Amino acid sequence: MSDRHITRRIRGMDTADGAGVKLKRIIGQPGLDMLDPFLLLDEFRSDQADDYIAGFPEHPHRGFETVTYMLAGNMLHRDNHGNTGKLVAGSVQWMTAGRGILHSEMPQQEAGLMWGFQLWVNLPAAQKMTAPRYQDIAPERIPVVHPAEGVEVRVLAGELAGAVGPVEGIPTAPLYLDVSLQPGAALTLQLPPAHHGFAYVFDGDAALVGGETLRRSELGVLSDGDRLQLTGTDQPARLIVVAARPLNEPVARYGPFVMNTPEQIHEAIADFRAGKF
Ligand code: CO
Repeated sequence: MSDRHITRRIRGMDTADGAGVKLKRIIGQPGLDMLDPFLLLDEFRSDQADDYIAGFPEHPHRGFETVTYMLAGNMLHRDNHGNTGKLVAGSVQWMTAGRGILHSEMPQQEAGLMWGFQLWVNLPAAQKMTAPRYQDIAPERIPVVHPAEGVEVRVLAGELAGAVGPVEGIPTAPLYLDVSLQPGAALTLQLPPAHHGFAYVFDGDAALVGGETLRRSELGVLSDGDRLQLTGTDQPARLIVVAARPLNEPVARYGPFVMNTPEQIHEAIADFRAGKF
């Protein structure tokens, strides 16, 4: 048995995406370009409508998966194949873009808090051109477990304390947990030893991750290992813990296209321009 610890700390960078949505980019910025298989992590959080109202109008994706986890607010998802989905507080959408989709994500509110995460997870070379697939998961389908006193965990993907998250059939075998810790509470997580992982504190002041203090809005990259100790401080805290199997494949990346070679990127741009998405 080996304990995971924090090997790097990253703070989100303030930026804007879509039609001007203000957000913090945590993975996918100069301080942490990627953490195989994770390509991007954004936290959007604002109660000022001007920061989010313009939304994410139609844009393409090819070669990876986008995962939207909503903490507060409402967005409507729509794509060019006629699929629509409501993103409400507590829901998760795991979208496998595969060979290509065009979609939009637009706020369905004119005031109030909009808060959540978007994570990009790479696809293995053999599945980059798979058919697009959606897993739209309503809040009530996400199991809530209490594996220790003062600990509550929503299991979005993977398994914890006999609960299996509803997201299924993902090639990188992800674990995605939303962990709430009361003061002093402690939890030991078992993680696949070679999965790459991170923890990110998004509410409260700080949590202890692998025995070290991780402050709010700070992402800790985890070492390899099969155990991770999480402990509350003297204030309640909430964090996401995410881990997945690294692909160890070449990455060619251009905006919303993530492939293995520059040639495949040129092909993606040509296909997009030719209306083949
Ligand atoms: Co998108």
